[in-house]
Amino acid sequence: MFPLFGNCSFLFFFLFFFCFLPRLCFPTKITAGQATVITTDDHNATWHNFTRFKDAEKGSHVSCISELKKYFQQFGYLSIPNNQNHNFTDVFDAQFESAVVSYQQKFELSITGKLDSETILTIMSPRCGVSDISPTIHATKHFAYFYGRPRWDRGSSMTLMYAFSSTDMIDYISLPKIKTVFKRSFSKWASVIPVNFTEIDNYSSANIRIGFFRGNHGDGQPFDGVLGVLAHAFSPENGRFHLDKDETWAIDFEKVKSKTAIDLESVATHEIGHILGLAHSSIKEAVMYPSLKPRSRKVNLKLDDVEGIQALYGSNPNFKYSSLLAYENSYNKAINLNQRSCSWTFSIVVVVFFSLFMIT
Ligand SMILES: *[C@@H]1O[C@H](CO)[C@@H](O)[C@H](O)[C@H]1NC(C)=O
Ligand SMILES: *[C@@H]1O[C@H](CO)[C@@H](O)[C@H](O)[C@H]1NC(C)=O
Ligand SMILES: *[C@@H]1O[C@H](CO)[C@@H](O)[C@H](O)[C@H]1NC(C)=O
Ligand SMILES: *[C@@H]1O[C@H](CO)[C@@H](O)[C@H](O)[C@H]1NC(C)=O
Ligand SMILES: *[C@@H]1O[C@H](CO)[C@@H](O)[C@H](O)[C@H]1NC(C)=O
Ligand SMILES: [Zn+2]
Ligand SMILES: [Zn+2]
Repeated sequence: MFPLFGNCSFLFFFLFFFCFLPRLCFPTKITAGQATVITTDDHNATWHNFTRFKDAEKGSHVSCISELKKYFQQFGYLSIPNNQNHNFTDVFDAQFESAVVSYQQKFELSITGKLDSETILTIMSPRCGVSDISPTIHATKHFAYFYGRPRWDRGSSMTLMYAFSSTDMIDYISLPKIKTVFKRSFSKWASVIPVNFTEIDNYSSANIRIGFFRGNHGDGQPFDGVLGVLAHAFSPENGRFHLDKDETWAIDFEKVKSKTAIDLESVATHEIGHILGLAHSSIKEAVMYPSLKPRSRKVNLKLDDVEGIQALYGSNPNFKYSSLLAYENSYNKAINLNQRSCSWTFSIVVVVFFSLFMIT
């Protein structure tokens, strides 16, 4: 059909189809689904041993599946029934099945109610420690807020101050480099909402307090070692921003070879979303999606993130949707370059498509 593009011609159908959808639907769809496949063979990584529950389904009695139920409880999908004496059983019951279904919905997986391989791989993926669903989270179709939609309120020209802990930091990345990464992450959010972020030295008087912690660190949400939970942050106007010190944090994968390396900037950008009041999104490409593969980057806000945060704070007067779309294009191009033979074709077609779209 389009010999020039060979087996990429399906992309034309794809784009053609989206021409007829409202403009806002488009950008969240243009990135290819990023599989949350764990890319590590580190068997010590937290949750790696959940593979043994693969293919379990309702009705089966699975030894130690109560461990997995605790995981579902931790992220808000399950609570212990009153008649079970504060312990989960090892039975794959109807309640657990419906927890699996809501998990699959939240993560945009096929809804099977079973622990199929896609679901297990997603469960094992390292992720943010903030709960996905709970009575305190108000979920919309995609992006979500904490209950009551809390936000920072400092009048019309808002500046929030952030500071790094002087004691709870990592030493294998220099402080200036860490500061540069955070500055960039904050500026991503500042460019879409009328909020400025300024770094100050005084940790105790800052609005946003950033530190690296290991294990139990006094807020009732202990970190869990390598992978598993990577970081967590609290909703407005709390400002606590904690990263798991046991991760191999990285800012340049060329220099860090570890298979479990985690991109600091991606996690920083995600946690700032919580600090500002966003909960987890079910859009895979969104920064506010709960999980992140090791050795992967997701640092640019997607339309879903922008819509969510602007509904809380309004738009930055200088923000333009067109620049967001250009961003998404260049991001896709970079990501796809290594993975897809037809990435260039795809990006070029998207750019052309957008030009047409703007004119009409
Ligand atoms: C995994 O755990 C074993 C025993 O607990 C330990 O000897 C080994 O060094 C660990 N491997 C890694 C990569 O942490
Ligand atoms: C699975 O991992 C958890 C946490 O790392 C550990 O407590 C548990 O003993 C492991 N179970 C098996 C069967 O290895
Ligand atoms: C719950 O489980 C723990 C550890 O598996 C056990 O020590 C405890 O007795 C159990 N509690 C009840 C009420 O069954
Ligand atoms: C943020 O800072 C810039 C430059 O200092 C300033 O022009 C702008 O008004 C500030 N915005 C807010 C919301 O304070
Ligand atoms: C930091 O801020 C706190 C609270 O505002 C204040 O009591 C303290 O003196 C400040 N410390 C420094 C070194 O400025
Ligand atoms: Zn999160
Ligand atoms: Zn914490």
